[in-house]
Amino acid sequence: MWFPVMPIVGIDDLAIYVPKLYLDYKDFAEARGINPQKLEYGIGIKKMAIADTNQDSACMAANACLKLMQRNHLHPEDIGRVYVATESSLDESKAMNSFVIGMLEQIYGEGSFEHAGGIECKFACVSGSYALYDNANWIRAEENNGKAAVVIVSDIAKYDIGSSGEYTQGAGAVALLIRENPRLMAFDQKVASTTIKNEYDFYRPFGKETPLVNGSYSNLLYLISVRKAFDSYKEKAIKSGLIKLKDGESITDHIDFFAVHLPYRKMGEKALAYLLRHEWRHLPRWKYVTKEVGMQEPQPKDARGTIESILADTEFMKADEQFRRGFMQTSFYNEVYENKMATSLEASAIIGNLYTASMYMGLRSLLEFEFKKGTDLEGKRIGFGSYGSGSSAMVFSGLIQPQYKEIVKRMDLDEDIGPRQKLSMEEYERLHRNQRAFTDSVIRAHNEFVLVKLGGTTADKAGFREYNYVS
Ligand code: CAA
Repeated sequence: MWFPVMPIVGIDDLAIYVPKLYLDYKDFAEARGINPQKLEYGIGIKKMAIADTNQDSACMAANACLKLMQRNHLHPEDIGRVYVATESSLDESKAMNSFVIGMLEQIYGEGSFEHAGGIECKFACVSGSYALYDNANWIRAEENNGKAAVVIVSDIAKYDIGSSGEYTQGAGAVALLIRENPRLMAFDQKVASTTIKNEYDFYRPFGKETPLVNGSYSNLLYLISVRKAFDSYKEKAIKSGLIKLKDGESITDHIDFFAVHLPYRKMGEKALAYLLRHEWRHLPRWKYVTKEVGMQEPQPKDARGTIESILADTEFMKADEQFRRGFMQTSFYNEVYENKMATSLEASAIIGNLYTASMYMGLRSLLEFEFKKGTDLEGKRIGFGSYGSGSSAMVFSGLIQPQYKEIVKRMDLDEDIGPRQKLSMEEYERLHRNQRAFTDSVIRAHNEFVLVKLGGTTADKAGFREYNYVS
């Protein structure tokens, strides 16, 4: 009997685009009367990337995609699908990838992508992961006719002035090249796991530029959702033989690095703590962990309660915070944190939240900074915890491939972002309030796509967006 061999598919390369304007945390803290240490250590932010007047998620996506194509000497005929995952949509109907194709055609010629396909995907910050999964399966199913797929994650995270979300803003895009026999990372097969539920932790009704957020609820929902998807991942990984557990071992011992959704740096640290507690509390090592914490892990009054009932259980929440902080000080946590997560968080601290692109910027950060540390990444497994409000989580994993150095050795975040310009609080607030015309950009664009025309003079041209490549 003949069994088809499933092609090995994964991420071959990735390119980033980050706007060159930024807001410094010290200026921000002073203006809002916040202790800067809260931002630096409590949230984990130093610089937030801010989009200029002539930038939106579509041109950031096109800029990242163009870099990816040029660096890999790719031509449109090498690409069969261009997907854009975003929660900064520009139109209720016209997909963002159509704008991106329009921009790329300025470089590669009118109609050069006509043979390809693709859609815009939406599910808050998790949709890029679904797009990767679907495109990987398109290639596995050999529907791709030898062509690669490009998935671009691109977003502008913008919150109300004065809100607690304001210090978790950011902007940027990551373009990912998906193909057979990838040089960078191959997805583990048949283990990707998801969870989904109707929730209102963070959402942005039609016509509203900034989201409505229930901060503490969204934090807990993120942790619980990723944990649920991780439970299902674990079941599949063990059942399929991908991971074999010996007595006393945790599945987290078999994952070499963690990359999770990063609305802000500290959330990554908390997600790791939550996951390790969940995975370790039934193992022999737990008694040594709790000894180091100096207290037993508290239990909520209603262990099967809702997120609301857990948050309302103030006695438990207080004790749990104390336990979590203690746990994050232990040698057990710190060993995993330093060796398996810390490098993925560095970019987040100097760019901010990128919604769909956050976790992939985290992957990029991990690869670059582990390489710079001299870590041998070949054959190492990266576990991903992707979360989108509203809400859905996806957990999957991938193995770093033998040719990874070819890709990773040229990664340089400072060079990739380029020289940046600090905004004063006054300039930032004018940009935030859309008080500058889009033609009055703070920076003169150079070697990139920018918005040059918005709307038309007649009603039938309302919502038209035109972009140009500025050399
Ligand atoms: N020095 C050091 N740390 C300090 C400090 C100081 N002087 N003052 C306060 N802190 C610490 C606090 O102790 C706290 O630390 P822990 O998390 O370890 O307890 C931390 O700073 C945060 O402070 P608060 O608890 O007071 O929280 P906040 O009111 O600043 O709100 C937030 C934080 C809820 C994340 C808010 O920024 C927010 O609503 N953000 C938007 C929503 C969000 O990002 N949710 C995340 C999950 S949903 C998601 O992931 C999707 C998405 O992309 C949005």
